[in-house]
Amino acid sequence: MASTKALFQTFNCENLTLPNRTVMAPMTRGFSPDNIPGEDVAAYYRRRAENEVGLIVTEGTGINHPASVSGASIPVFHGEAALKGWENVVKEVHSVGGKIVPQLWHVGMTRSKGDLPNEEALPVGPSGLSLDGEKVTEPLSEEEVGQLVEAYAQAAADAKRIGFDGIELHGAHGYLIDQFFWEQTNKRTDRYGGDLVGRTRFAVEIIEACRREVGPDFPIIFRFSQWKMNDFKAKLATTPDELERFLQPLVEAGVDIFHCSTRRFWEPEFEGSDLNLAGWTKKLTGKPVISVGSVGLDGEFTSFAGAETTSLDGLIEKVENEEFDLVAIGRSLLMDPEWVKKVHDGRENDLLAFDKESLKKLT
Ligand SMILES: Cc1cc2nc3c(=O)[nH]c(=O)nc-3n(C[C@H](O)[C@H](O)[C@H](O)COP(=O)(O)O)c2cc1C
Repeated sequence: MASTKALFQTFNCENLTLPNRTVMAPMTRGFSPDNIPGEDVAAYYRRRAENEVGLIVTEGTGINHPASVSGASIPVFHGEAALKGWENVVKEVHSVGGKIVPQLWHVGMTRSKGDLPNEEALPVGPSGLSLDGEKVTEPLSEEEVGQLVEAYAQAAADAKRIGFDGIELHGAHGYLIDQFFWEQTNKRTDRYGGDLVGRTRFAVEIIEACRREVGPDFPIIFRFSQWKMNDFKAKLATTPDELERFLQPLVEAGVDIFHCSTRRFWEPEFEGSDLNLAGWTKKLTGKPVISVGSVGLDGEFTSFAGAETTSLDGLIEKVENEEFDLVAIGRSLLMDPEWVKKVHDGRENDLLAFDKESLKKLT
């Protein structure tokens, strides 16, 4: 293995300092009965922090809206009991020197009618369309959009109040924020729709409202993706120019760090350059970026099959070249809490392949 020194440099941006360049990717686990994260969830994140993960992004956690999550074991981010649970998660992670941000989430139209925890709550989205473009419910009214913006802002304020080190907004993969970005799910003709820039309006208002609540020094990370869960080939931006037009309003609204979600970090985003989505985002915005996608593994995550370990040399080269600043690791860290420490200690042969059985428990 090439020297991993580059991965273990400190990271500093205006309002976040990390001991190294590794990030635990947000991963929904579904181990929070009654939507409340308990001691086992806190211990799960603490184990990653103890083993040198630079920054933990929690699993997606639902903002205060009746249709924000699908399922009774997905943690939410509102109400006294859930917030107490999260406060304990923060306490455990901080007790071993870790840093942690919650991933604030609304699933939008991916929710099925009748899903728990609120069976009567209908799915909501910009135009009431499923990801495949089928009409399911009425479009959100402007008043409802405003209420959703405020629910994100409230979650950001609560994150700061209970001690988190920042927030991540989940604007990727075809969930609510991304449903506004994507022309297939956003057919609105008001200020929340229209061209690519118009379709960023919802996210812009959310970022501005979160910033208003948390002040200038509290990190706001924004996760986005080209791909959608039902369409891996989908693209919000087909050229660097389009990507710049998409990102600029988000930068102006107050994003500190972009988390650019791809399924394979080594794939160039546009023809004619080796830069991946994170590399382009950094080049176009000047902001720090997190890359992600099959780090250390030979199969991407959406198949949910097992995957073998692979060399980290390609990753290290990109970090050395400063194509991106931080790298998020998903399944390898789900499988093995010690993954980062093993890499730091040069124990490459001890890294574990991803076994999908690991999804069945919190270890
Ligand atoms: C079990 C599982 C749950 C996931 N849940 C989320 C989630 O809640 N929010 C999110 O943005 N991405 C989620 N992802 C995507 C990961 O954050 C990450 O982008 C993806 O797994 C690719 O990284 P990897 O190849 O290192 O696993 C999930 C992935 C897995 C495997």
